[in-house]
Amino acid sequence: MLYAKEISKATLEVNGKTFQLPVYMGTEGEMALDIRNLRAQTGLITYDPGFGNTGACASNITYIDGEKGILRYRGYDIADLTEHCNFLEVAYLLVHGFLPNKEEYAAFSSMMNQHSMLHEDMRHFYNLFPEHAHPMAMLSAMVVTLSTFYPELEHSANEAIDSMVTRLLSKLRTIAAFAYKKMKGHPIVYPRPDLSYCDNFLNMLFYTPVNGYKPDPVITKALNQLLILQADHEQNCSSTVVKAVGSSDANLYASISAGICALWGPKHGGANQAVIEMLEDIQNNQHGDVIGALERAKSKEDPFRLMGFGHRVYKTYDPRAEIAKKICHKVLDYLGVNDPLLDIAQRLEAGALSDQYFQERHLYPNVDFYTGISYRAIGIPTNMFTVLFALGRLPGWIAQWLEMRDASEHRIYRPRQLYVGPKLHSVKAD
Ligand code: CMC
Repeated sequence: MLYAKEISKATLEVNGKTFQLPVYMGTEGEMALDIRNLRAQTGLITYDPGFGNTGACASNITYIDGEKGILRYRGYDIADLTEHCNFLEVAYLLVHGFLPNKEEYAAFSSMMNQHSMLHEDMRHFYNLFPEHAHPMAMLSAMVVTLSTFYPELEHSANEAIDSMVTRLLSKLRTIAAFAYKKMKGHPIVYPRPDLSYCDNFLNMLFYTPVNGYKPDPVITKALNQLLILQADHEQNCSSTVVKAVGSSDANLYASISAGICALWGPKHGGANQAVIEMLEDIQNNQHGDVIGALERAKSKEDPFRLMGFGHRVYKTYDPRAEIAKKICHKVLDYLGVNDPLLDIAQRLEAGALSDQYFQERHLYPNVDFYTGISYRAIGIPTNMFTVLFALGRLPGWIAQWLEMRDASEHRIYRPRQLYVGPKLHSVKAD
């Protein structure tokens, strides 16, 4: 088992018989009960819909303390990383386990550059999507399509995995930018060798033959920071999907493509789009009435939820939301943007944090609450926000997939269930 050590045994009593279950402690003191032999020994399975109490693996990538609001990648605090690193360095950290030195960074950037183009035939796929196609659908489809252009990488030799990883990190950015250009009906823009990872992406988004595009260091820094905030979050829904697909030995492209679909949902990464749509609705249709929105969010009769609020793991302020809020103010101040949605968001936050319903349930803003307002100010359309999240989360997905593949305890993901359907009956008797 990866780094966890057994510290004691727990005793379980079932029908008068006792069983000993190993208890492990992780490096930060969290404890886990090993139930791997539970069914074989007792005939019981555990029941945990939504996996809220299920440790599916041991991992040395990301640490979260949801009670204290701590997030660390490979032992580095998220605030430290957003302040002192760029996204490519953090991607390297997540995938390789350590921050790159100068030479390693130069080699990594150069590989990013070499792999940044798409096979020309892939461009034609974009022509076949309808005008209104959501870019997350295009992203997922194009990622799995990569496996048809690079079939040799289905084998899992280490160099093949290395180039598959770099290829994906670099090409997802190009795939995302082409999807945007398709939606705009503008000519696509190819990646440039002289631009950094984020500048290249922004240039592919915003360059047009008539307007050009000049990278802006303040915006580039903000984008780097926002992508870092989203780069990993241990066993979240999409990472679990990536690993579940990969656990059948499906290739990395197929696994990531599935993860993109999982991220799309509004309870997960799709929340950044849903937050802006909610704020726009409050502004345009409810006269800016945040109290009414909070009342709706609290009502059990109304399916409406406060988007960008609440988290399975954080029971305090999401540390990413805190940083995202600062970035949001910085970007809007710098661009001289006065976005009324920021005012609504801040009033919603203040109202929720002083309301008993949200306090009792420990509901705070999550990473998605403020990121969209920054993206909007930069000029990125709402339906591209989750694409940006996917771009940020990609190194985390890859790191989690690689760790799962290499773990000695790796087995196909295959949970059990408690069957509560009809007992045996026959067609004839019915
Ligand atoms: N607005 C109103 N009530 C909420 C909210 C919310 N945003 N989130 C949770 N609750 C209530 C929920 O109704 C429940 O109340 P009760 O105990 O009375 O039944 C209680 O809080 C616990 O909620 P839960 O649904 O059991 O919590 P969960 O851990 O299953 O779900 C969540 C977590 C993030 C899906 C949920 O908080 C939510 O739907 N939030 C809004 C969507 C969102 O912002 N998602 C982004 C998450 S962070 C980034 C990411 O993962 O991609």
